[in-house]
Amino acid sequence: MHIDTEEHMAEGGTENQDTLTIRDNRTGREYELEILEGDVVRAMDLRQIKVQDDEFGMMAYDPSFMNTASTRSTITEIDGANGILRYRGFPIEELAEKCSFLEVAHLILNGELPTEDELDAFVHEVTYHTYAHQNIQKLMQGFRYDAHTMGIMISSMAALSTFYPESKDVHDPEVRWNQIVRIVAKMPTLAAFAYRHHRGLPYVYPENELSYTANFLNMLFRIGVRDYEPNPVLERALDILFILHADHEQNCSTTAMRVIGSSLSDPYCALSGAMAALYGPLHGGANEAVLRMLTEIGDVKNIPDFMESVKRGERRLMGFGHRVYKAYDPRASIIKTTAHEVFEVTGKNPLLDIALELEKIALQEEYFVSRNLYPNVDFYSGLIYQAMGFPVEMFPVLFAIPRSVGWLAQWQEMLEDKEQRIARPRQVYVGEGERSWVPISERGS
Ligand code: CMC
Repeated sequence: MHIDTEEHMAEGGTENQDTLTIRDNRTGREYELEILEGDVVRAMDLRQIKVQDDEFGMMAYDPSFMNTASTRSTITEIDGANGILRYRGFPIEELAEKCSFLEVAHLILNGELPTEDELDAFVHEVTYHTYAHQNIQKLMQGFRYDAHTMGIMISSMAALSTFYPESKDVHDPEVRWNQIVRIVAKMPTLAAFAYRHHRGLPYVYPENELSYTANFLNMLFRIGVRDYEPNPVLERALDILFILHADHEQNCSTTAMRVIGSSLSDPYCALSGAMAALYGPLHGGANEAVLRMLTEIGDVKNIPDFMESVKRGERRLMGFGHRVYKAYDPRASIIKTTAHEVFEVTGKNPLLDIALELEKIALQEEYFVSRNLYPNVDFYSGLIYQAMGFPVEMFPVLFAIPRSVGWLAQWQEMLEDKEQRIARPRQVYVGEGERSWVPISERGS
């Protein structure tokens, strides 16, 4: 609302506590914007600010969404200053200690922890949708033996869309739920098939009597035996890692999921796009990049030279830093404990000493301290995955499997949110003004 403040105060008006007054010094006009829950103002309220009536009006300029809330969400809460992460209000530490991954998946997708009956029903549904159409295997066989498993995952997820054309009916809650169950169920199957393809091994089909993570480990690692029994410590460690990765509010890949979904694309295609966003080394590809970095450093004695090159800005210390966490990443603390439990079974990963030394130095040195750079979720997860026998190419896939739950919950929330429409940011055009076409013979060199 545009107000004339002096007149307003002279008439005995009082300042409203829940508003923001903006003064446009070009015109001297003042505007009162409503402050909403969460200390936000609506960017659309800026549009009324203009010098001439026929102008477009003011916008907020925010490259990379550094300070823009794109949604109101009830799924995941992060307090970056205090290192807090909660799903639907429950602290991540409690969920990681006390729940199974599918229990947490139910919580994230439905808003509440399941009762025993609800959990049984959900586990049953997921278990009975783990098989993928045989043609998906044929598709995978078209990839080169050394194809990156994320490339295979991204493609086969998009391909699944063609098997379920009804999934386009995104406004039908029942249709939506069927696809959610299918995707959560089939992610480990696709991942395991991609891995076996990569290794040139025959595919192992899902076993219905195994848990979500045990079934995954069975499809990955069973060779030459009829019954495969995963080590319970490793099975639980993977479950914990899945819980830690299940959602992380409006990060790059989740934003991709919401943006693609906002055009009413089906969830398989939207999730394929979210996986593509996750694949980059600044996001879910960081766990792979950490392992490659630690391998390249090779020895604790090479760390000082490496750290100098980071401080000169020549490279990044992968697995460090976060857009939101500025104190510590609570997931990294849990993972560090889990790593020690896994190493009791597998033996210590030889790269652990390098990782610990890097962390020690980074927590003391001014460059890292002044920029609030702490280990994030990806710093230690790769060490666990490697100790468990996963090749580095599988690391981003191990991030994508549990994150599919978060992507789907966020996609569903977006579709049910009356305020959301097709995502369409604005730009500030800074290119040439209008000019006339010139024949090619008359253009300079
Ligand atoms: N190593 C060295 N310097 C860094 C690092 C790093 N890992 N991260 C940030 N910086 C510096 C950066 O150079 C900049 O310094 P200056 O102010 O002198 O220019 C300052 O810290 C701020 O960095 P930024 O790039 O503006 O921060 P951002 O919020 O845009 O980026 C990040 C966040 C996670 C992309 C970044 O910290 C990074 O590249 N980290 C390494 C990759 C990584 O581990 N990613 C996984 C993130 S957690 C899992 C997930 O959610 O995907």
